[in-house]
Amino acid sequence: MGLDLYSKIEAYLELEEEVKELHSAFLGLIFEKNLNDIIDIGCGQGAFMMHLLANGIEVYGIDLSVEQIKVCQSFNLRADAIDVKDVEDTFACATAIFDVLNYIPKTSLEDFLKNTHKILNPDGYFIFDVNTLFGFEEIAQGSLNINQKDKFIAIDAIFENNELKTDMTLFSKTKNNTYTKEQDSIIQYYHALDYLKNLISSCGFKIEQVINFNLHSDEDADKYIFICKKI
Ligand SMILES: C[S@@+](CC[C@H](N)C(=O)[O-])C[C@H]1O[C@@H](n2cnc3c(N)ncnc32)[C@H](O)[C@@H]1O
Repeated sequence: MGLDLYSKIEAYLELEEEVKELHSAFLGLIFEKNLNDIIDIGCGQGAFMMHLLANGIEVYGIDLSVEQIKVCQSFNLRADAIDVKDVEDTFACATAIFDVLNYIPKTSLEDFLKNTHKILNPDGYFIFDVNTLFGFEEIAQGSLNINQKDKFIAIDAIFENNELKTDMTLFSKTKNNTYTKEQDSIIQYYHALDYLKNLISSCGFKIEQVINFNLHSDEDADKYIFICKKI
């Protein structure tokens, strides 16, 4: 999977404002529920973990990308590149922010939800977002070229058969004025609302709320935020 290449180009995608807005919404929910001791699943480079710590909330992060976790650890964040099934502690709340569940294919989603359920304290919360169909079809699809002094990035994303395939190419200038080329793809999976609701309930969660969230567009919700409680 192209998660490590994504980690190298993420900073150039100019998503800072959107990321900040989504993180603020999650922080608001955590304050509202008075939650401490969080595991951030798919923590990326640790931006949300830093918001939590700045507000005195304890957090541990995990991500499948070794490169992302190296960045977290360089900021002295408590984070490991492990799968949720290998987490040994339990937490008051798990978060999975910015499409993390869309990276998980349908065949693995039930295991992921069951493993997340296992690492929560009784009455623990699982709060996450997923892309809506509108988000995939109207927002995520398309092409983008980024031309920087020492980098050239080409991104091409196509949504077909309920999957978004994003091809990424990164050319990086070397000291000798030649370029190295890296190429990889990421696949994200659309999970329909009813399918997700049924699966979450069957994995031992009560869905308290599903929030329609307009992150990239005023037109229609491009994300759902799920607030689920372990039962
Ligand atoms: C778009 S990034 C979001 C990063 C971070 N949560 C944020 O809000 O900035 C999605 C992250 O999910 C991670 N990821 C994908 N599937 C995962 C899984 N099954 N377990 C843990 N992390 C995963 C990716 O490596 C990537 O860092």
